[in-house]
Amino acid sequence: MKNLERLREVLTKIPHRPRGAETRHSAVHPAIRSPLVSRLFSPLPLGSLTLPNRIVIAPMCQYAAVDGNATDWHLIHLGSLALSGAGLMVLEATAVSPEGRISAADLGLWNDANETALALVLASVRRHAAMPLAIQLSHAGRKGSTQVPWEGGSQVHPHEPAGWQTLGPSAVPHAATDTPPHALDADGLRRVRDDFARAARRAARLGFDGIELHAAHGYLLHQFLSPLANHRTDAYGGPLENRMRFPLEVFEAVREAFPAGRPVWIRLSATDWVEGGWDLDGTVALSHALKARGCAAIHVSSGGVSTAQAIPLAPGYQVPHARRVKAEVGLPTIAVGLITSAAHAEAVIADGEADAVGLARAMLYDPRWPWHAAAELGARVAAPPQYWRCQPREAKDLFDMTRQGPGGRTM
Ligand SMILES: Cc1cc2nc3c(=O)[nH]c(=O)nc-3n(C[C@H](O)[C@H](O)[C@H](O)COP(=O)(O)O)c2cc1C
Repeated sequence: MKNLERLREVLTKIPHRPRGAETRHSAVHPAIRSPLVSRLFSPLPLGSLTLPNRIVIAPMCQYAAVDGNATDWHLIHLGSLALSGAGLMVLEATAVSPEGRISAADLGLWNDANETALALVLASVRRHAAMPLAIQLSHAGRKGSTQVPWEGGSQVHPHEPAGWQTLGPSAVPHAATDTPPHALDADGLRRVRDDFARAARRAARLGFDGIELHAAHGYLLHQFLSPLANHRTDAYGGPLENRMRFPLEVFEAVREAFPAGRPVWIRLSATDWVEGGWDLDGTVALSHALKARGCAAIHVSSGGVSTAQAIPLAPGYQVPHARRVKAEVGLPTIAVGLITSAAHAEAVIADGEADAVGLARAMLYDPRWPWHAAAELGARVAAPPQYWRCQPREAKDLFDMTRQGPGGRTM
């Protein structure tokens, strides 16, 4: 009952309603009519994997790798987030080849050294956290060879140290001042497909619970989808069906290379936010095609392919895209983008707008965000036994204390 009252209180104070959805909400949220459990903290089946709750730590590049190898920064960063109680963590965009990196400091998974470095980090993280882990496999295409963001993020030209010749669907640069990418020919396409498949096999050996294929934010697979970056006249350019061909081939190769019992899903930019660019209709069509190929979910983001994009930033601004994909395609969707409060996250799930919420910046700002959300929503969350003593008085049942000390005493 106390939980019910707490949830009623937060849900009636939701600060933001997705645009256009105002009339669908009464003062009392429908979620509170159900037998009271937070929907955000209910389990989510994702293919054969079941997430303990619907909070997904969105992939976040750390630009802290050396030659693609994870470092002690990854241990600190991932170790901290793995104790957060989220339902899933997706590791940062991980390049499938050296030229597939955004910057020279990107994480990679193209050789044995990369695999070993990541295995060491994962072994430590897993010793202390049961959180499911997925990896985002990526190729930056024409958006590669850049400085790390805190050094400016502009392109490092191929003749400079730490620079390389980028690849793309067409020889069209991202920014006018960038060196144009080399357009991939048939051999190049095969190589990229094989690189993705090889990285997927390495991810399987590393014991990842899932793979997220990065086809968003203007990187290589998105470049093929968008008419703004894809000017090809062969079977991989022109009509929608052709522009979808290469991303679908890569998805198939990754799906085949990863154990059938573990899910593979995709991150898409639902729209380029540019007239004449990739759009939501294309996203729905592609999602149908992915569903037919065994895709477990769609992580719905947007933008990134064009410097002319005009993004109407607001809390939950990408949620309506996830809602449409979920309604029309029927695959689980992850909504992401400026979802920062527990009440808003709960509403996105309770309203059926998406099946999970992705959080990036909010997780960096508050790495215990899921604990605080669970306390606010009257739910339970996993926490390491070393920290159980911090459970606040007003949330006495917050931590799932299933691991007991000797004699059944709580340690
Ligand atoms: C530091 C940082 C690194 C990011 N790196 C990635 C990445 O590797 N792959 C990706 O798909 N998105 C990346 N993103 C985008 C986030 O996953 C997320 O979609 C975006 O930040 C919006 O969510 P938010 O409002 O919860 O931060 C990154 C965002 C941040 C802040």
